[in-house]
Amino acid sequence: MAIVDIRLFPDPVLRQKAKRVRNIDGSIQSLINNMIETMRAYSGVGLAASQIGVPLRVTVIEIPREEVITLINPEIVKRKGERIVEEGCLSIPGYKGEIKRSQTIKLRGQDRHGKEIRLKAEELLAQVLEHEIDHLNGILYIDHLESPDKLVKLPETEGGEGL
Ligand code: NI
Repeated sequence: MAIVDIRLFPDPVLRQKAKRVRNIDGSIQSLINNMIETMRAYSGVGLAASQIGVPLRVTVIEIPREEVITLINPEIVKRKGERIVEEGCLSIPGYKGEIKRSQTIKLRGQDRHGKEIRLKAEELLAQVLEHEIDHLNGILYIDHLESPDKLVKLPETEGGEGL
């Protein structure tokens, strides 16, 4: 396993639409291992493969005190409700913004063994999943800001939420 540098905005890889994974082979397993290690090293709660320069549809999520979730080719099939959240991104350090996310989402995808997963999520998990799946589509949370004043620079001492 290895900790990998996180690509920072405006790196063009963050704007690429990531490709579907066809074959969950050894290279995908090491990608996932590196992503988990990198996410933890940066105290993140989620990471998309694009953020380490690999435009493939793979994401890892680890909400504090919960098990790590690995999703391959995830797809949101239903969104419900709306809530205003504060969000940050490991690829845009030093900032946070206020945006709207869904109350609940339903998604499907595959786990790291290729097994079909269906998941219903709410609150923080739903937010993180929407954020990471946005990454796979080349979308950043700053694209959802209603106005530029909804983006705030964090004081040097304060770390943002790492997604
Ligand atoms: Ni992010």
